[in-house]
Amino acid sequence: MVENRSLDGAGNNIANPTWGVGPSLYTRLDYGSAYPAGNAYADGIGAPARQSGANVRVISNVLSKQTEVVPEPLGFNDMAAWWLFHVHLDIALGGQGEDSVPIAVPLGDDPFDLAGTGTEEIAFRRSLSTVELGGSTETREIFTFPTAYLDADPIYQRDLAGNLAVRSGSGGLMELQQAANGEDVLPSVAYIQSIKPGSLPDLPPFVATTFAPFPGGVAIQTMLVREHNRIARALDALQPGRKTVVDLPVDPKADPEAYDEALFQLARKILEAELQAITYDEVLPAIGVNIPPYEGYDPDLFPATSLEFAGGPLRLETMLNRFAPRLDADGASIPSGPVDSTAVLQPGGTYPEYLQEGMDPILRGMLVTPARQYDLLLDEGLRSADPEQFFGVAGDLNDLMATHINRGRDRGLPAYDKIRSALGLSPVTRFADITNDTQLQVDLASVYSSVSDIDPIVGMLAEDRVAGSLFGPTALALYEAQFTTVRDADRFWYQHAMEHSPRLRNAMRWVGLEIDDGSGPWVLARTLAGLILDTTSLGGPSDVVHLDEDSSALYVQ
Ligand code: HEM
Repeated sequence: MVENRSLDGAGNNIANPTWGVGPSLYTRLDYGSAYPAGNAYADGIGAPARQSGANVRVISNVLSKQTEVVPEPLGFNDMAAWWLFHVHLDIALGGQGEDSVPIAVPLGDDPFDLAGTGTEEIAFRRSLSTVELGGSTETREIFTFPTAYLDADPIYQRDLAGNLAVRSGSGGLMELQQAANGEDVLPSVAYIQSIKPGSLPDLPPFVATTFAPFPGGVAIQTMLVREHNRIARALDALQPGRKTVVDLPVDPKADPEAYDEALFQLARKILEAELQAITYDEVLPAIGVNIPPYEGYDPDLFPATSLEFAGGPLRLETMLNRFAPRLDADGASIPSGPVDSTAVLQPGGTYPEYLQEGMDPILRGMLVTPARQYDLLLDEGLRSADPEQFFGVAGDLNDLMATHINRGRDRGLPAYDKIRSALGLSPVTRFADITNDTQLQVDLASVYSSVSDIDPIVGMLAEDRVAGSLFGPTALALYEAQFTTVRDADRFWYQHAMEHSPRLRNAMRWVGLEIDDGSGPWVLARTLAGLILDTTSLGGPSDVVHLDEDSSALYVQ
């Protein structure tokens, strides 16, 4: 009997079937006696941390105002950040409760208080926590919605009703919708409701398969869903003898529902393997995160995402441009120009119009656009745009950096130096222990009276990088710990599955994927470039983007 992953992660760990289920609680690092409960809440149970520290908008103004765009020195285009954006939705995504605690804007702030009223505020709501959902006397712990496994759950949905809504119901396929330009793109909620009335709750008219339809992320997820369908079609086309070997029904008509289910589950397993292989063998090594070789499933390892990771180095927005270019095959901008990544956050944001012009122009733009240097500096369009054009609830001001800093306080994260120590790294006592950049040392000292006051995301972004990596030592240690857990605590991890399932290995080979079966653990030799070539129109002979399977799609083309 073939076992499939559940949609919500339940049963992955046999002895502890609720481990890793989405939604669940973020975990916290172990701070020993410094913070026995693991949090730095002012009252030990839920009041935000560091309230006597500098105002977060002031910190953002001093440390994150970008006046010049510097390309990322490691040569990345926008792909790595948006690939990891999918990973973020897959393993770490909190929500907001009703508790509104706006951030005060300093008097005369440019451009938020040009009238000098001193009454302006940046909207901020506290994270959705056990207090909202569990009673007010508990310590405030924070919810994360996805499963703790890298299992493409944002695409497949975490419950059966949602899953059935986004599946076509035949041949193992997922629903896609045809855009005005003829491309297959992710379906809108309205489209799904029109073909399957009542199948989805009356949600905002966004994309049915994702909560956060930012163009770059939707482009990656579009490729993943197209790839699922490509695999399902290849399985459907297998010779009857091969279908029998990989446990698929031979005749689609004998029991169409069982046929659909069998193809769907096998295509899903292969898609998840591709997602895991590209993340671990291509994206993480490129950003300097090296996870020790796979040694097998560890049933004693608790699968969970840490707040320190989600609240710090996984927030990669400083690499991004707010506006994503859209290019045709000649490399020219399409007539409607770049797309605003924040459009969906704007008042009345709807199923993004940009989908009608297809994903390929966005993917082409991502491949040729240099990422911004990963550092403290954020696109002013995300930090301090013209208030009239800013994103968020109508009339609200937003500063994504101030928000990130404040989120750490809201969630009771200990200061940066405590996180560093909890990870076993050498202690920092002077600003010069964090960075050799003397101007940055001065700027840090102008908003923090001591090294031990620094907010986590600020300290991590300020640290000098480890050679060859995007990150300083603290962020890097968090990446290594988190991604080791994501892999080793997953009973359905693809290398574990491959080892025990000749069926899966055969199916992978027969749908045309390459397998490295050297002496170590099984590896699926899939590249991001291969995925792009198989699921988009990019890379053709006359395309401005030149790609072959072995090229790295993470660097500016
Ligand atoms: C222009 C594109 C983007 C915009 C406008 C954007 C905006 C936001 C906003 C408004 C939040 C909520 C902040 C809070 O209230 O705490 C957020 C959270 C987050 N973003 Fe982005 N983001 C973008 C791209 C990215 C990318 C490319 C990544 C890469 C991985 C990323 C990673 C995250 C993470 C990890 C969180 C926090 C999740 C959690 O702690 O629960 N974002 N983003």
